[in-house]
Amino acid sequence: MKIAHISDIHCNFGTDFNEKLFDKAASMVNKVDADLIFISGDLTTDGLLPEYEFAKEKLKQIKGKLAIVPGNHDERNLGWKLFPEFFDDTDFIHSYDDITLIGLASSEPDRDDGRLGRGRHKRIEEGIKQKKTTILGFHHHVIPVPHSGRETNIIEDSGETLDIILKNEIPLVLMGHRHVPWAVKIHKTLLVNAGTFSCNRTRAHFGNTFNIIDVEDDEIEVTVVNIGKEKTKKMIEFDLSDGCCKNKYYDFKNNI
Ligand SMILES: [Fe+2]
Ligand SMILES: [Fe+2]
Repeated sequence: MKIAHISDIHCNFGTDFNEKLFDKAASMVNKVDADLIFISGDLTTDGLLPEYEFAKEKLKQIKGKLAIVPGNHDERNLGWKLFPEFFDDTDFIHSYDDITLIGLASSEPDRDDGRLGRGRHKRIEEGIKQKKTTILGFHHHVIPVPHSGRETNIIEDSGETLDIILKNEIPLVLMGHRHVPWAVKIHKTLLVNAGTFSCNRTRAHFGNTFNIIDVEDDEIEVTVVNIGKEKTKKMIEFDLSDGCCKNKYYDFKNNI
């Protein structure tokens, strides 16, 4: 299964959104011909109605099966009430051929940090019962992301969340929020962050990116697509059968 993992689009009418770059990025995603496009939140910048309308319109350019969770920016200004009107349920368990995708809203209205809470922890356990390859997706990160500034936004219950993920050997967790692409393997889990798709607030030379994730029977491979430079670079390979992981390909200095 091929997943295009997009995050932090930040549609707005100020300086955050780069519409020209979005248009280019959307056509690059369409060429990937992914089985699924997962968007891990921050579709807007302030959660405003015109921004939701704009984001909905722009997303029509991306063809394929979409699964979307909200980010902290989408929940600002009562935006949390708008998200389900425009993009369906904030929390879901979707079943594809051999994959279960559990999408969760990790944001709290008008706050930059987040939490999952006991209700969503239960939903993770519900999704796991389907006994397919489980993929978990939400906006915030569960452990600090390097090269993304000082840590202030990690989810409040990251310890409990990580405990559930690791104990259940969930192979893949998809997140965004920090505008930096990153991946790390812990025990039998690959934690993957997508960078920002079309926000002008990029960090150093990371630029605007999205991830392509190939999930095979026993292997997960993550490739970063640099939209501005039209270049791809493998970030990590994770062999589920022997737990071996290679992540030497992509880092702060070696990202194009
Ligand atoms: Fe963001
Ligand atoms: Fe965010």
